[in-house]
Amino acid sequence: DDTKAGVKGLVDAGITQVPRIFIHPEVSGSGPSPSLEETRFVFPIIDLENINKDPIKHKEIVKKVGDASETWGFFQVINHGIPMSVLDEMLRGARGFFEQDIDVKKKYYHRDYTRRVVYNSNFDLYNPKALAVNWRDSLYSTMGPEPFNPEELPEACREIVMEYSHHVMKMGCTLLELLSESLGLKTSHLKEMECSEGLSILCNYYPSCPQPDLTIGLSKHTDNDFFTILLQDDIGGLQVLHHNHWVDVPPTPGALVINIGDLISNDKYKSVDHRALSNKIGPRISIASFFSSGPLPSSKLYGPIEELLSENNPPKYRATTLKDFYDHFSQKGLDGTSNLSHYK
Ligand code: SIN
Ligand code: FE2
Repeated sequence: DDTKAGVKGLVDAGITQVPRIFIHPEVSGSGPSPSLEETRFVFPIIDLENINKDPIKHKEIVKKVGDASETWGFFQVINHGIPMSVLDEMLRGARGFFEQDIDVKKKYYHRDYTRRVVYNSNFDLYNPKALAVNWRDSLYSTMGPEPFNPEELPEACREIVMEYSHHVMKMGCTLLELLSESLGLKTSHLKEMECSEGLSILCNYYPSCPQPDLTIGLSKHTDNDFFTILLQDDIGGLQVLHHNHWVDVPPTPGALVINIGDLISNDKYKSVDHRALSNKIGPRISIASFFSSGPLPSSKLYGPIEELLSENNPPKYRATTLKDFYDHFSQKGLDGTSNLSHYK
């Protein structure tokens, strides 16, 4: 039952020192670290206002999306059409889930990710290859493609997860169009590759941490999907590896963070390493919406987009089924290497 109380349970019990299993040598020690130099990097922010009303504006936005995806693999968007009240409510609903009575919460505690709704703390806790675990609890819900009964979602956030997922799906489709156009493909290309068939929503809860310099909220990784839409609260902690510097993604009211995932990267659009620091103040809440493909297991192969390949741009990765791709991801855990490197 202690495990089911998560990292939050440790904090509630009043610990003042981070237990050994959470200690990440790479955070306190070597490796790229924030430096003064990073201030010269301006994290891209793209205004989507009037995207479908003004053709000149539309073209400008497509160009910005392409540039940001090539150079950063990450950008923020504002005026994306999801009401502020929905964003606030989503963050509040997630917090409500984690902060409710443990007896209710533990009903959702699983390590079996084939389940639709999984609450746990550190999916790699029992992975022998995991060197250290993260200062984070999480709630993972698979929202599609199969229809499901909303009753399966925890009551604390049921309604808002349903509402938020509808908004995020709509926005995801707009992004797929922008990404397709920016790659010089026809507008519906990525949609036809089924890049938005599967949606899952991960609510992250990073409790306040007594020794944030020793551990990490979420260790370095790339996302194993097509792309991700992230909602973060105002605390901050998300960092992106850019030119070998960890650059902060500044919390911006009303903004959403977009990042390119492994499955549409051919090293042109980058699936970039990122991490979330732990913090003395907290909890910090973030909501990651992962866009993936249709029902698994499918024999369909995913690899570099054929239309973009040429003699000068040969494939950099071999094609794989999504099942193999995800299996490899869960076996290796968050070991700091990209899942993609296995498919070189
Ligand atoms: C994630 O990478 O899934 C979440 C990052 C964050 O919490 O900011
Ligand atoms: Fe991520």
